[in-house]
Amino acid sequence: MHQTLENMKLHNFSLFLVLIIFKLSSTFGLTDSLIPAEAFLSAGHYHTTCPNAEGIISQTVAAWVKKDPTLAPSIIRLHFHDCAIRGCDASILLNHQGSERSAFNSKTLRGFQLIDEIKAQIEKRCPKIVSCADILTAAARDATILAGGPFWEVPFGRKDGKISLESEASLVPHGHENITGLLEFFKERGLDILDLVTLSGSHTIGRTTCYSFIDRLYNFNGTKKPDPLLSFSFLKLLRKRCKGVMDLVFLDVITPRTFDITYYTNLKRKAGLLSTDQSLFSDARTAPFVEAFATQPFLFTSQFAVSMVKLGNVQVLARPNEGEIRVNCNYVNK
Ligand code: HEM
Ligand SMILES: *[C@@H]1O[C@H](CO)[C@@H](O)[C@H](O)[C@H]1NC(C)=O
Repeated sequence: MHQTLENMKLHNFSLFLVLIIFKLSSTFGLTDSLIPAEAFLSAGHYHTTCPNAEGIISQTVAAWVKKDPTLAPSIIRLHFHDCAIRGCDASILLNHQGSERSAFNSKTLRGFQLIDEIKAQIEKRCPKIVSCADILTAAARDATILAGGPFWEVPFGRKDGKISLESEASLVPHGHENITGLLEFFKERGLDILDLVTLSGSHTIGRTTCYSFIDRLYNFNGTKKPDPLLSFSFLKLLRKRCKGVMDLVFLDVITPRTFDITYYTNLKRKAGLLSTDQSLFSDARTAPFVEAFATQPFLFTSQFAVSMVKLGNVQVLARPNEGEIRVNCNYVNK
């Protein structure tokens, strides 16, 4: 009896200590670092400070995509390249010597002017409130919808980074990786195998330069032969379409402008364009997901919404005192 009473006192005392430590650390902001950064994001982030932000973004994206439908996939890719390096912090938009944007891997990125236009419009209404990272994230969602893809709610509150390095941009996968490499790259960013197969489904729209897969047509892995995972009829077509390495071809040869599951059915018919695309079906770890999406459109679109939210939350700068709200997406504030 005496013994248990002593134990209880000790137990109470340790509880008391834990509470004191927690209280002290939260007073000095130490618990912030225990909370994941994405927990600082919320759908209502701009509701009082810039209620028109989402409207301005969607209207401007719609107007520009109407004039040039090829911008929809380009904006989605721009968002991926942003999030893939230093998280979704608009580092890809910084336009100075030696920035990510000037890297070889970024050469065919497009849509910068559209983001600049949205930013200019928003700065007129609510200056220094809405980050470039948030604008790009919402624009990618709106571009998806315009291409026929799903809607999802975008959590806001990212801030813009101040660092952008050309050397880091070369880490973004360019189409010659194996599945192990892709899985590692995704894992380092908190994304899993399902996210990899799902987000690769973005290649159901958009284009690539022949440069990114030309090795598959003539000399695959130094064999002086085409890639055996490429169907013969598709091979013939691509050889005709690729007169030069900078020529552009659709990533989804069947329904190039529609956000659908044809990307996955193409893989089953050996008509995946990038080597990394086709690998999703030839690798036993990812093939079951391809099979599932190839027959269940709703499974794909609903998972796409989920995985895009995850992508948009990668390594965000959202804690107090992290990052800044850029005035011009091209430059760090003075
Ligand atoms: C899994 C690894 C990935 C690889 C290896 C890859 C590779 C590529 C390559 C090589 C291109 C064409 C570049 C060129 O030569 O012009 C491209 C285009 C594209 N990528 Fe990816 N990508 C990957 C993941 C993603 C993800 C996660 C997204 C979006 C969430 C995405 C969206 C796009 C889009 C929409 C295009 C077309 C861009 C346009 O038409 O302007 N990609 N990708
Ligand atoms: C796949 O890529 C990884 C990392 O990028 C590399 O270490 C590995 O050797 C590659 N595996 C094969 C089978 O080529």
